[in-house]
Amino acid sequence: MGNGIAQVAARAGFNVVMRDVSEDFLARGLKAIDKSLQRDVDKERLATDEKQAILGRIRTTTDLADLRDAFIVVEAVTESFAVKSEVFKTLDELAGEAAILASNTSSISITRLGAVTKRPEQVIGMHFMNPVPVMKLVEIIRGAATTDETYQKVHALTEKLEKIPLECNDSPGFISNRVLMPMINEAIFALYEGVASRESIDGIMKLGMNHPMGPLTLADFIGLDVCLAIMNVLHDGFSDSKYRPCPLLKRYVDAGWLGRKSGRGFYEY
Ligand code: CAA
Repeated sequence: MGNGIAQVAARAGFNVVMRDVSEDFLARGLKAIDKSLQRDVDKERLATDEKQAILGRIRTTTDLADLRDAFIVVEAVTESFAVKSEVFKTLDELAGEAAILASNTSSISITRLGAVTKRPEQVIGMHFMNPVPVMKLVEIIRGAATTDETYQKVHALTEKLEKIPLECNDSPGFISNRVLMPMINEAIFALYEGVASRESIDGIMKLGMNHPMGPLTLADFIGLDVCLAIMNVLHDGFSDSKYRPCPLLKRYVDAGWLGRKSGRGFYEY
């Protein structure tokens, strides 16, 4: 999702530093941005020179220290508290005093992430939706220590990105995934129990509920490892068995069938 976030920020006129762990991942990110902008050029919603100007505002790096001058850093690393907290500790050391540290986490506690830094009042959740260039929502999550000033700045920034900020308190899964993920998990249980085929489950939800994608297609789109990580956060956070991840979801993740990104999930790609 990091490349989508970089894209919307550069399109809104900001200079962006996009950081990843390897040149390969950065090249893949830039390719996705190019492809996404090209759709708009092809549809005559963006001029070719505007596309070039947007790409020109994105600088890439593998070095976290290159983020030291940013007024805001939006972290979008693996959905794991251990990984995110290391990144936050490092960012806290190197970023300017006034910089806001935002996380694109889909379920991990902003309060806990804030607590690993010396600036928890400037730590906030900015939860973008996939595909970032298309989806209007940014779920904004306040941690226990997040100040109003930080919230207002991030709210204004989100509007500059031409997204709609909606506020939520820090609670497992926030609103988006507390509601979405149990639905996806239930669809996986239905498949696991042989209640219906994958096509039937998805078709019923698509045609009957007017969802743009069926829940199994959506799970493949999000990534099955991400879905499992979110279910685990809900399960641990609420200590309620209604959030237990379906064994079929666990089995697919163990097999490396992570959905679209790995070429196989509930469907083959
Ligand atoms: N970049 C730019 N534009 C894109 C794009 C991309 N990556 N992907 C699709 N689009 C644009 C297309 O150009 C098209 O634009 P126009 O209609 O203006 O011409 C529009 O989006 C629709 O695309 P398509 O016609 O190709 O396909 P579609 O109608 O099936 O829509 C979709 C694709 C937007 C992905 C739609 O299927 C959808 O909304 N799916 C559900 C997405 C969703 O639920 N996302 C949230 C997931 S949860 C999450 O992200 C967070 C989490 O914590 C897990």
